[in-house]
Amino acid sequence: MAPLDVVIIGAGAAGLFCAAQAGQRGLKVLLIDHAAKVAEKIRISGGGRCNFTNREASPAKFLSDNPHFCRSALARYTAADFIALVQKHRIAFHEKHKGQLFCDESAEQIIAMLLSECEAGGVTRWQPCKVAGVRRTDSGWAVDTERGEVHTNAVVIATGGLPVPKIGATDFGLRLAERLGHRIVTPRAALVPLTFDAAHWAPFIPMAGIALPVAISTTNPGRRGTVRTEFLEDLLFTHRGISGPAVLQISSFWRGGQPIEIDLAPGRDLSADLADAKSRSRRQLANELASWLPQRLADTWLALHGPAADLPMPQLPDAARKQLANGLQHWTLHPTGDEGWRKAEVMAGGVDTRDLSSQTMESRLHPGLYFIGEVVDVTGWLGGYNFQWAWSSGYACAEAL
Ligand code: FDA
Repeated sequence: MAPLDVVIIGAGAAGLFCAAQAGQRGLKVLLIDHAAKVAEKIRISGGGRCNFTNREASPAKFLSDNPHFCRSALARYTAADFIALVQKHRIAFHEKHKGQLFCDESAEQIIAMLLSECEAGGVTRWQPCKVAGVRRTDSGWAVDTERGEVHTNAVVIATGGLPVPKIGATDFGLRLAERLGHRIVTPRAALVPLTFDAAHWAPFIPMAGIALPVAISTTNPGRRGTVRTEFLEDLLFTHRGISGPAVLQISSFWRGGQPIEIDLAPGRDLSADLADAKSRSRRQLANELASWLPQRLADTWLALHGPAADLPMPQLPDAARKQLANGLQHWTLHPTGDEGWRKAEVMAGGVDTRDLSSQTMESRLHPGLYFIGEVVDVTGWLGGYNFQWAWSSGYACAEAL
């Protein structure tokens, strides 16, 4: 094989995009993936419609040990740039919620778009093809693959994070980085449902399947004191704990042992609402509460915490009213774990950004070695931000190759 300019390992979101950009800049690119199918995570993303970016993408929507690292790449290839590419390929899309953009039809359209962009760049793709190792040579890099050894000026690691191992996720990128002396920010599951030990959660199982809008928050130690993070989104009760967009968002900030607080009636003053209802309504408490909460939640909550569900409103004591409202609006929970890599949407942590250039994604330890996408310690909120990071980091890298 003729000498290569770059070998990109991982044909997911970041790898495909970077390969296309590098190829279209005239570089000779080989893209390798061990999986038979290309970009499985794009295929299953956004419920099959791929939330491919977010109009509100900005560094504030990303977590990292170095929150400034993503700034340069996000500024140089923006959500608007990716939207323009989607429009050029005549893919219809819509905004669902808070700037989140989804394909009208299918995530397959984004994959087809990336493959056609790779074709336009003359990218060679080997798939499925296992990679045994990557090593430095006098003139660049050698990549040992099951189709033979290839030599290249540069290697880009785009092997993603650890979530959903059954569709091809591996720790290849993390292991390689560590072996070459890179620091690693301990990986942890993020955008993931939270769980409780079975005995603790058993009384709440009757609420499984209920979804409702909530305010959810947690508090973390920050550089200047504690930082409270809150999201207003939907929560879903499950048989093992809590899920839904509110919980996925807060899970990225939650650390084991910390409490989370949930307001089950955000934007209301439930104590005042109940006082008002007491003065005008003769209904039973559970039915009155169901004006603001799902009936099954109201019934289960009263069965667990009181007062009696059939208490007529005029008989509701003030102390009980205040206690009930306070419990529902400041519900403090101590999750015991999360659903792990099987269910997480993204990995937080990864290759430490201190050892990478924020302009180019190149290793500061090994010239010619680059890390892009989820393998890097940059993690987006729920809502299209993680794909935007894949596009932006892939672009920054391709420009520098
Ligand atoms: P990605 O995982 O896309 O690609 C990595 C590639 O490397 C894979 O093709 C894999 O096979 C390959 N690979 C791994 N190990 C290898 C090895 N040893 N040798 C060779 N190849 C190897 N984000 C978002 O913004 N909007 C959304 O709607 C969703 N939805 C969503 C749903 C679900 C269920 C999940 C699990 C995740 C999402 N995400 C998301 C997150 C998003 O999918 C993710 O952040 C990006 O795909 C990351 O892009 P990368 O290219 O870095 O990794």
